[in-house]
Amino acid sequence: MLLSISDLTKVYRGGTRANDGVSLSVEEGQVFGLLGHNGAGKTTLVSQVVGLLRPTSGAIAIDGRDAVADPGYARRVCSIQPQAQVPITGVTPRQAIDLVGRLRGAPRSLVRRRMDRFVEALQIGEWLDVDGERISSGVKRLTSFCMATVSPGRVVILDEPTNDVDPVRRRLLWTQVRAVADEGSAVLLVTHNVLEAERAVDRLAILDHGRVIAEGTPAELKTGLADELRLELVLEPGVELGAAEVPAFARRTTTAGNRLIATVAPDDAGAAVRWAGDLRIANRIEEYSLVPATLEDVYVQLVGRADADATAAAANATDSAAREGDDVRAA
Ligand SMILES: Nc1ncnc2c1ncn2[C@@H]1O[C@H](COP(=O)(O)OP(=O)(O)OP(=O)(O)O)[C@@H](O)[C@H]1O
Ligand SMILES: [Mg+2]
Repeated sequence: MLLSISDLTKVYRGGTRANDGVSLSVEEGQVFGLLGHNGAGKTTLVSQVVGLLRPTSGAIAIDGRDAVADPGYARRVCSIQPQAQVPITGVTPRQAIDLVGRLRGAPRSLVRRRMDRFVEALQIGEWLDVDGERISSGVKRLTSFCMATVSPGRVVILDEPTNDVDPVRRRLLWTQVRAVADEGSAVLLVTHNVLEAERAVDRLAILDHGRVIAEGTPAELKTGLADELRLELVLEPGVELGAAEVPAFARRTTTAGNRLIATVAPDDAGAAVRWAGDLRIANRIEEYSLVPATLEDVYVQLVGRADADATAAAANATDSAAREGDDVRAA
């Protein structure tokens, strides 16, 4: 196993337990996705892998070597595209990419060849010789990707590489992420873009409040929802659907803004389409869709369940503490 993380815990000064017993491993040639809500602990995790942050406890091995004991080794064999934008001031993207490639020890001709390849693949050639101060944030993000991969480490970490990137270039980027893994690195990819990740990753883990709540291939994570369909209604402005109006076949209903999302069994697909059609004729919805469940549905369900469990556990703790007559403080 190229990268192996076991029982990793990070407690920040001040007490935040940002990683809580995380174990996962990534093989050579694999793209491993790391998903999770804001503050779930993703950046904390990858910062420890690259040797920028010291774990409170647990182990990290890269190619079988202890990376916690030797953070210098970790920094040498990992490359990272950080989540925070690296300021590219006083240099052009070409100069920045070239500099990083040569600092990492790659021969000049190889750096040039790989830079040409990425720049062409990501279609950023027109900005290659423009001052860093004058390029858009999406192009900065893509430049940062090139800096991380022009001379890639054994482990390549990409922390939200598609932020600010337009939909066409995002697709181009996913292809290059795959190529970097195919060349032999282990890629650890942090993203909020669950739908796109589904196509780009071999395996993934979902982090929730510092813990891994699910891990596997996209297909494995979807098995629980394999046959289910997702019905999504876009309500007309000002329209609300009361719980009594929602038929029983629409299960696990959630609303977000003017959208109502529900799970529907395949046998109920006809009834769901008729119901949605009637709502449209009555001008209560703008549109609807009925599609197979995606990784995003799995994600929302798992994270939702983890939240419900946490709330229930907190309520239980409060109940029992109250029974025991302890001093209970509201969170
Ligand atoms: N330097 C720090 N000192 C103290 N707490 C921190 C520090 N950095 C992060 N945290 C806390 O640790 C938790 C995890 O943060 P982290 O940045 O790892 O999350 P994340 O999953 O990367 O979130 P996002 O998706 O928003 O980037 C959060 O509660 C955060 O507030
Ligand atoms: Mg982060």
